Amino acid sequence: MTEVVVVDSPDSASSLAAELILSKVRTKPALRLGVATGATPVSLYRRMAVLAKQFGIDLGELQAYALDEYVGLEPGSPQSFRHFLEEHFIEVLGLDSNCLVVPSGDVGTIATAGDHFEKAIRDTGGIDCQILGIGSNGHIGFNEPGSSLGSRTRVKTLTENTRRDNAAYFSQPEDVPVHCISQGIGTILEARALVMLAFGDKKAEAVASAVEGPISASCPASAIQLHPHATVILDEGAASRLEQLRYYKFVWENKPDWQSWRLS
Ligand code: GLP
Repeated sequence: MTEVVVVDSPDSASSLAAELILSKVRTKPALRLGVATGATPVSLYRRMAVLAKQFGIDLGELQAYALDEYVGLEPGSPQSFRHFLEEHFIEVLGLDSNCLVVPSGDVGTIATAGDHFEKAIRDTGGIDCQILGIGSNGHIGFNEPGSSLGSRTRVKTLTENTRRDNAAYFSQPEDVPVHCISQGIGTILEARALVMLAFGDKKAEAVASAVEGPISASCPASAIQLHPHATVILDEGAASRLEQLRYYKFVWENKPDWQSWRLS
């Protein structure tokens, strides 16, 4: 079963996710971490920095792999996901930017960029833990509805809905690229563990479809139900449409110590 944890606020959710990830770094300092962009994981990265310091966890061997990137932005563009991750992940955690691998959105090499990125993941032994957000239409990475559940890293065309959701990062909505390169759903499912975060009522419907709906390309995030180690950490708003909400809370309240990933 997908582990669903519902807490009172985005801050508590970020703290819990940070504990889950750092407990993995303790066991494996050279953890391969899949990192997501968007507003949702920003406080997670900040919380990881605070807790790593507090618990003396060294992040120096961490390797990070981005989920996706826009195609066709100028190199170094502030809207690129590489730039976002440099600012909100690498700098916040005090890491070396060489530890971050991002699929290339350069038009000149785009035909081979997906294979190149997949090889980079394979060569290091695979991603240990993949952080995920969720789009309001149920996308993960940039796997829009209709994406194959077995897909690998490749170029995708963004939906109008997603371009609208991401328009705030650009000076005008038309500037949001039409194309992106994204880890496929098959690529994401190969990570050894998945940690999905979602906050607010706006995500409630997508979260309910992902966790409790049928597994379907119409809601790409529903593919996480196929994963043996997927944890979904939500605030009350994002959890508000879940039918089994009371049960998830009961499971969490009765989680045995020996199954816990809390830091101490
Ligand atoms: C983008 C990213 C996704 C992210 C989603 C949600 O589309 N490609 O990885 O999960 O946005 O973003 P936010 O967290 O800002 O709601």
